[in-house]
Amino acid sequence: MKYKTQKIAYWFFAAAMGLLALQIVYGFIMGFARIGMDGLHPWIPFNTARAVHTNLLVVWLLCGFMGSAYFIIPEESGRDLEWPVLAWIQLISLLVVGVIAVGCYHFNIWEGRKFLEIPRPLDYLVVVNVLMFLANIGVTLWKGTHPTTTALVLYMGLLFAALLYLPGMIQEDNQTVDSFYRWWVVHLWVEGVWELIMGGILCFLLIKLTGVDREVIEKWLYIIVGLTFLSGILGTGHHYYFIGTPRYWLVVGGIFSALEPLAFLGMAVFAIAMSRKGGRRHPNRIALTWSLGCAVMSFVGAGFLGMAHTLPSINRFTHGTLITAMHGHMAFWGAYAMIVLAMIAYALPLLTGRRLWDTPAANWAFWTSNIGMTAMTGALAVAGITQVNLERRIGLDFMAVQHEIEMHFVGFLLAAALFTIGIGLFLYTFWRHGLPSQEAMAPESAPDTLAADLAPEAR
Ligand code: HEM
Ligand code: HEM
Ligand SMILES: [Fe+2]
Repeated sequence: MKYKTQKIAYWFFAAAMGLLALQIVYGFIMGFARIGMDGLHPWIPFNTARAVHTNLLVVWLLCGFMGSAYFIIPEESGRDLEWPVLAWIQLISLLVVGVIAVGCYHFNIWEGRKFLEIPRPLDYLVVVNVLMFLANIGVTLWKGTHPTTTALVLYMGLLFAALLYLPGMIQEDNQTVDSFYRWWVVHLWVEGVWELIMGGILCFLLIKLTGVDREVIEKWLYIIVGLTFLSGILGTGHHYYFIGTPRYWLVVGGIFSALEPLAFLGMAVFAIAMSRKGGRRHPNRIALTWSLGCAVMSFVGAGFLGMAHTLPSINRFTHGTLITAMHGHMAFWGAYAMIVLAMIAYALPLLTGRRLWDTPAANWAFWTSNIGMTAMTGALAVAGITQVNLERRIGLDFMAVQHEIEMHFVGFLLAAALFTIGIGLFLYTFWRHGLPSQEAMAPESAPDTLAADLAPEAR
């Protein structure tokens, strides 16, 4: 690392890893409940586990994004973080709010809105927290050297993500209106501003890992941002088909959401093209593998599997079934989990001074988790298609169908076990890196770490 204060990133990443592990535990609670092994039901019923699983996902991804920003922004602005102590306060308070929220769900204290279950008073604490974060990186960027496009896109993504949190706090009794604004948060996050965050981090990684000129890489970023906004904003309409909003949304949502895969395709093509073009062989191959993997898997999960159910004529049958869960898993994994893991794989050796790139564990972590997640997605696809046919086409009762598809969840659990082994290996590699050290800053350790990032001989 070049700046002492980048160290804070490590702790955000560590927090993210802890929450990811907990998210998986709740995933298994649901997975087993699905095959009739629901012994925890009196304490953790399915709906509680589901809210905890998805909320932990969002919180660990946010921790990952913030950690990435605390690493990238100082580097891109050529100076230390403005208020390192504030970053600490922010991390701890975020975790406290997260733990309280998750605790509340176990006592049925929540708002009954998927993904936005967090009780209202805690929303205000989240807002304060995010303001602290934005101020900190904002001032660092402001006082630094001329801001780079990469840093600006990352900052804009984070800023808009914060602004778009607010519509989720609108108090509304009407179900349709409530749902209408809920999608401003849920959809415009993952299919809008989070894509900017992902694009910014991906750009940073490609600049570092491929050695291709910043100008070339950043030009692509503009195209991707353009495609994202062109399709993603009105693409929100694909959630307005059947919730009581006017009929024109069928057309608007259908057309614009069908364009959304282009942004993800653009990212995949871009990442692959840059890695081919780059002559530089950065020794941290695994970070490049995660970066390229992210670009490809986000296209598969979000672009391809999103497209699979985005047209009204199809969504009419698949809406709210396991087809949605199939897409949700692969999309979140490919786009946002993998970009965070890519950033961690890149930053850890620089933060700790230990070059554990390209170890067997690190490589197995990548392949096992990705094959596992692909198989999980496959199992959910089979379960989902069966559900659609039996429930929506033939008209069988909801619960009868859920019983019919139980078998597919055995396969799902096996795939999830494989996935978990991969994540276990990633966590093991994380742990083996040890804590951030002063040595990572010292010039004598340069050949091992920093030089790989800076020196021409690395080309
Ligand atoms: C990384 C980007 C994406 C992520 C993380 C993501 C994730 C999700 C999640 C979690 C849901 C369920 C939301 C809920 O019911 O509250 C969902 C729904 C949906 N997504 Fe995506 N998605 C992404 C991109 C896309 C794209 C690009 C498309 C279209 C091409 C798409 C099409 C849909 C549709 C149509 C639904 C509604 C499903 C239903 O009616 O039940 N998604 N997505
Ligand atoms: C061992 C790992 C995991 C298991 C066993 C698991 C299991 C589950 C189950 C059973 C559900 C509920 C589906 C339903 O409504 O019936 C669910 C929902 C969900 N999970 Fe996972 N999960 C795992 C890992 C992950 C990961 C790594 C991610 C993201 C990167 C993720 C994202 C989601 C999302 C977004 C939903 C909500 C989907 C929707 O809106 O329909 N899960 N998970
Ligand atoms: Fe959407």
